[in-house]
Amino acid sequence: MLKTLLAVGVAASAIAASAALADDNTVTIGMILPMTGPSASTGKQEQAGAQLYIHEHGDTVAGKKIQLIVKDDTGAPDVTKRLAEELIGNDKAKVLIGFGLTPLALAVAPIATEAKVPEIVSAAGTAMITEKSPFIVRTSFTLPQAAEPMARWCLKNNIRKVATLVTDYGPGVDAEKWFSEPFVKGGGTVVEKIRVPLKNPDFAPFLQRVSDDKPDAVFVFVPSGFGAAFMKEFVDRGLDKSGIKLIGTGDVTDDDLLPSMGDAAIGAVTTHHYSAAHDSPENKAFVADFEKANNGMRPNFMAVGAYDGMALIYHALEATKGSTDGQALIDAMKGAKWTSPRGPVEIDPATRDIIQNIYVRKVEKVNGQLYNVEFDKIEAVKDPFKAAGN
Ligand code: PHB
Repeated sequence: MLKTLLAVGVAASAIAASAALADDNTVTIGMILPMTGPSASTGKQEQAGAQLYIHEHGDTVAGKKIQLIVKDDTGAPDVTKRLAEELIGNDKAKVLIGFGLTPLALAVAPIATEAKVPEIVSAAGTAMITEKSPFIVRTSFTLPQAAEPMARWCLKNNIRKVATLVTDYGPGVDAEKWFSEPFVKGGGTVVEKIRVPLKNPDFAPFLQRVSDDKPDAVFVFVPSGFGAAFMKEFVDRGLDKSGIKLIGTGDVTDDDLLPSMGDAAIGAVTTHHYSAAHDSPENKAFVADFEKANNGMRPNFMAVGAYDGMALIYHALEATKGSTDGQALIDAMKGAKWTSPRGPVEIDPATRDIIQNIYVRKVEKVNGQLYNVEFDKIEAVKDPFKAAGN
């Protein structure tokens, strides 16, 4: 009996040792995204961005094999949380990445802290997210970072009376505040602040109010994936012919949906960190490779957030020589600098947010297709929310 038990014991530990060996040589990255539901375009873009990075740079880093596991949270925070726990507990994921909307990123923050597993926020943009765990690092952007430059552009370009229309949750509230406050401080007037619900938004009554207000411009934030529905109502209410200018952060004219928005989008001016039309060799190669790998789909800023998220994970694993210790990975990510398809970027060591250029862009037709064409830039913008001491 004892002999049998011992034999079983030896066999079991041999299996355990080989499993440990396999584990030691594989770094599992858990990617959680809304692959279904209203933010499915974000999921699709993020997954394609991460996969392209691996395809271009190989699936081995510092001697470790990279395994990317993608899970669909359907956009529900309780599902995001459960998937994060399963990825860490069952799949032994050493890094988590993705999270299509702010509440989904926030749902994972306590888990990242407790498990000491880096959480790479590659999509969401509410400024305070990175303050919710020392294990969060962001490769997307913050709404204050994108919105504040729009206020300055308006003031310089004689746009004095603006109505704001934002989706009523974290990033929309950030966009409204960080556009309105500097705009009013600089002498502008915000005639109305309208917030539309995230779930099943009906833009029509809100746009009617904007039309009645007759401002010089309407400043808009809707999350990526909602821009086409917004533009349809904008046209149906006749706002495209009203002389009221469409301005906003670049989420409303995101590159994924822009080609299908129609000529009414032409002339919209937005501030953002990425355009598929960005003129650099890195971006030209990125767009070409992305379109080739995805049946001609155009990458948007979500794809770039995930592509850069993978770049950051590869950088950190190289710096730790393959160690997956969570704190060591986070330490290696702080201060990391590289050239992204969007331009030069850096992880702010103090806030773990991304420092990047913000570009002023106008929708134009280029070779018969709509693009956000960059015509000005503000270099190395830090998240202003944290720079203001928050
Ligand atoms: C967010 O929920 O933080 C979010 C989602 C989509 C965007 C921007 C921010 O385009």
